[in-house]
Amino acid sequence: MNPILVTGGAGYIGSHTVVELLLAGRAVVVLDNFCNSSPAAIARVRQVVAEAGCAAPQLTVVRGDIRDRPLLDDLFASHAIATVIHFAGLKAVGESVAQPLAYYDGNVGGTINLCQAMAAAGVKRLVFSSSATVYGEDARPPLTEAMPRGRTTNPYGTTKAMIEQILTDLCAADPAWSVALLRYFNPIGAHPSGLIGENPKGIPNNLMPYISQVAIGRCAELSVYGDDYPTVDGTGVRDYLHVVDLARGHLAACAWVQDHCGAEAWNLGTGVGYSVLQMVRAFEAASGRLIPYRIVPRRPGDVAACWADPGKASRDLGWQAQLDLPQMMADTWRWQSRNPDGYGDE
Ligand code: NAD
Ligand code: WQD
Repeated sequence: MNPILVTGGAGYIGSHTVVELLLAGRAVVVLDNFCNSSPAAIARVRQVVAEAGCAAPQLTVVRGDIRDRPLLDDLFASHAIATVIHFAGLKAVGESVAQPLAYYDGNVGGTINLCQAMAAAGVKRLVFSSSATVYGEDARPPLTEAMPRGRTTNPYGTTKAMIEQILTDLCAADPAWSVALLRYFNPIGAHPSGLIGENPKGIPNNLMPYISQVAIGRCAELSVYGDDYPTVDGTGVRDYLHVVDLARGHLAACAWVQDHCGAEAWNLGTGVGYSVLQMVRAFEAASGRLIPYRIVPRRPGDVAACWADPGKASRDLGWQAQLDLPQMMADTWRWQSRNPDGYGDE
């Protein structure tokens, strides 16, 4: 089978997806500029698949930027790519407010450049990393794909909404394109091997990496952003899904783009929401560590509650999340406790 190009394949979700692709016998070409990841993640990916019995994984790694058109043209000329899974992009919400041009350039500009190179090479199957953030702040859960994209609250979210529109327009203009828009809810957890996981640079922005860094003593206490939301205990509710489940969703989407045309969006979530304090308690149960926390004011741009209706992905892709919250927590803790400095290259 022709290889799959995975942009951003050294990152958190990308590395887990590359593992699943290799274990499924697919050849993979990773393109990554390592601006938010490390080549050590790729070495660990090789270790995971070797330990799983995949003796000769077909994995090629290209260091480079999705905005580099000559590099993309060379890559497509030297590999007969079947499908592109496109993770590469910047993802820090706060940074996107401070540096909007970097986000529009890297995410929107980068995706346009990638699609232009794909079109020139005749590669028209794409699986794109979108986000539940495209539903905007006014949508009420459970969120369904029938709901319109809404008012985004930061440039990061706006790049995802813009890219979805660009890819939808591209499919309307050329019916040979096939694009899966995967709207992730909140990916957490790590590979059960403990060898790959989330490796945030600097102070984590997201809840789970923050909790696990409190657990190992890298951060003193968790700030809980608000306890006056209309939720079960007043703290924010989200749909957390295991990153391995999410990775497997990409294999299902690859199968879909092979047999269909046009652009289609799917929620990838569990359909179940947990509050911040429920997450703290679940982590404490899995790790045996106490997580000190302090209630602080709400974080601007946060919604009270957000969870998916995952029915469409189940019906169309045959994908459903399988791994439960205790498993997400156990895997998070295994990764963090065995790798307190992540990949150790900061
Ligand atoms: P990540 O930062 O760990 O991975 C992104 C990878 O892309 C990194 O390895 C980075 O070095 C690379 N990259 C960034 N810009 C690049 C460029 N211009 N050229 C080449 N490589 C580049 O992030 P992640 O959590 O794995 O997220 C992957 C994708 O999923 C992103 O597009 C993100 O916006 C999207 N997403 C993530 C979440 C989440 O909570 N993690 C939720 C929704 C959507
Ligand atoms: C989850 C809950 C916080 C940190 C973000 C992006 C989204 C997507 C995933 C990625 C909320 C609370 C958090 C902390 C806290 N993007 N919290 N203390 O905000 O749902 O989604 O990541 O690429 O676009 O917006 O995830 O993990 O930041 O927050 O109390 O230190 O935890 O208020 O209720 P969020 P999160």
